[in-house]
Amino acid sequence: MNARIVLVLISFVLSIVTGLVISRGKGVAEGGGHIGRLVIGLSMDTLKEERWIADRDLFTAQAKALGVDVEIRSANSDDTRQLRDVESLITAGVDALVIIPHNGAAMARAVEMAHAEGIPVLSYDRLITDAETDLYITFDNVKVGELQAKFLADKIPAGGKLRLIRIYGAKTDNNAKLFKQGQDNVLQPLIAAGKVEVVFEDWAEDWKPENAKKITNAAITKAGQNIDAILASNDGTAGGAIQALIEEGLAGKVIVTGQDADLAACQRIVAGTQTMTVYKPLTQLAKRAAELAVKLAQRKPFIAKAETDNGKIAVPSVLLDIVAVTKDNIRETVVADGFRKEAEVFQR
Ligand code: BGC
Repeated sequence: MNARIVLVLISFVLSIVTGLVISRGKGVAEGGGHIGRLVIGLSMDTLKEERWIADRDLFTAQAKALGVDVEIRSANSDDTRQLRDVESLITAGVDALVIIPHNGAAMARAVEMAHAEGIPVLSYDRLITDAETDLYITFDNVKVGELQAKFLADKIPAGGKLRLIRIYGAKTDNNAKLFKQGQDNVLQPLIAAGKVEVVFEDWAEDWKPENAKKITNAAITKAGQNIDAILASNDGTAGGAIQALIEEGLAGKVIVTGQDADLAACQRIVAGTQTMTVYKPLTQLAKRAAELAVKLAQRKPFIAKAETDNGKIAVPSVLLDIVAVTKDNIRETVVADGFRKEAEVFQR
């Protein structure tokens, strides 16, 4: 066989091998990761709230734009199911995991499982506690609570006091504790000075609006209709509280806070039944998270300037800023940022 024929044969064999490798496409390589495009596993607590649908869509779009696929599971607020979701993503051979924990403590096990297979984990928006989480991205959650409470502090009548119902979020969510911490930072001195009276307080299990409604009903039964404000920790719970206020004929007469700039909340702010929300630019969060998750999947270095103590380690963290929104600045904030359309917010 002359040299030319040997070369042709070698190139023929090589092209078959290359073809085979390409055609395997997303086959799982030995030791985990995919051959071909990288894949990020996104394990979500729930998709039953407006904000998480936006997080999912924005995150996926950015990952795709970076040439990486996303495989998604949603646990419907169930810890056992979320652990199973993570297990199945690991088995599918994802290159990095992004987890939005229903229960920050319960998901420590998920981090262990992922690490056992060499898969890095990014904790998204909510902290996974007591685990060696690789990275955490969120907003300044203590500041969210501070903005909500400062808004109320500014409404205390001169020489009088504010009678307040406090509705916290889900006890299983570390963020709910941080929101409360921020609220306490502002409220404690005012409570001590007799300028704020907390007439009722409770945690809304799983952040459900119907639980917030029950809390508001119970508060009014106990303390009467003489309520000045409801410190609802997010827009979902604000919506539940406002339902109770509507039944009592009090909607629009009681100050109600929130967070997330959900469309329904923005509309309520314009209508006057909700008084404020906190706008957390989800587009920034989801895009930045996707970029970081891709870096983790590629095993490349990333920049995270902050650190968060999660009970076990100081987790490298990225913290994004937020803004308080009222009827007065809704156009300059959520609308100007392209987060909500003016026509939808103002229902024209
Ligand atoms: C998020 C909020 C959200 C709440 C309920 C929190 O962890 O930070 O934006 O409203 O969960 O889903």
